[in-house]
Amino acid sequence: MTATPTTGVALAARALRKEYGAGQSRVVALDGVDLDLAAARFTAVMGPSGSGKSTLLHCLAGLDRPTAGAVHIGDADLTRLDDRRLTRLRRDRIGFVFQKFNLLPTLTAEENIVLPLAIAGRRPDATWLRQVVAAVGLTDRLGHRPAELSGGQQQRVAVARALITRPWVIFADEPTGNLDSRSGAEVLRLLREAVDTLGQTVVMVTHDPAAAAHADRVVFLADGRLVDELHEPTVGDVRDALSRLDPAAAPAGR
Ligand SMILES: Nc1ncnc2c1ncn2[C@@H]1O[C@H](COP(=O)(O)OP(=O)(O)O)[C@@H](O)[C@H]1O
Ligand SMILES: [Mg+2]
Repeated sequence: MTATPTTGVALAARALRKEYGAGQSRVVALDGVDLDLAAARFTAVMGPSGSGKSTLLHCLAGLDRPTAGAVHIGDADLTRLDDRRLTRLRRDRIGFVFQKFNLLPTLTAEENIVLPLAIAGRRPDATWLRQVVAAVGLTDRLGHRPAELSGGQQQRVAVARALITRPWVIFADEPTGNLDSRSGAEVLRLLREAVDTLGQTVVMVTHDPAAAAHADRVVFLADGRLVDELHEPTVGDVRDALSRLDPAAAPAGR
């Protein structure tokens, strides 16, 4: 196994295009996106509803296939892999955190965390598992099933599951969208810490300026195109950029 790259470019998207449907009902969700993501950095993706954020994340993570363009991640071009190799690369090299946690209800927290390894027929490294579990603060909850955990705890299980394979990139789509602000802040702190202490590369979609301000860089989508970006922004910087993007939207509050 090659090590997780912690310098240089972790991911490069080129001329990424995604169309849904055909004819009259055709929707261009991504309209030529070029994006380089630095390794060991935290990037947030923002933009109005329907601007293509989830589509972009799904195409970058190999959960969906773009209509055209390339996604280079590690030493692979996702768009050139057949389904079997894409599935394997996703399992071994990519972590994903969803808004709705997506844990398996019949498995314990620990079984959920090690699931990507179990599917690959690999045994977890005990030290790494202990470290990940401690980092997400779940040491005394490992035997609990998702229904016995709060939303914040469930999302921390999902973050641990994403970290366990030491993936090239962790993608998170509105990971705090179903959480109260305190649990949300905890999950953001975890993602930030994964970047700072483990050199993990993280990409997160959010509509929350306070969440985006945890990132090193924020890129803004509108109508399927990248239209703006900020580096090390404050919450105020993010709000200003959003209102430039969508002057009709309320300027503050969320
Ligand atoms: N499976 C799909 N079929 C048809 N259109 C879709 C599908 N998924 C997304 N879209 C459309 O693509 C555009 C971008 O959607 P999405 O990526 O979900 O935006 P966002 O996450 O920024 O709200 C929207 O116009 C949406 O309606
Ligand atoms: Mg979305």
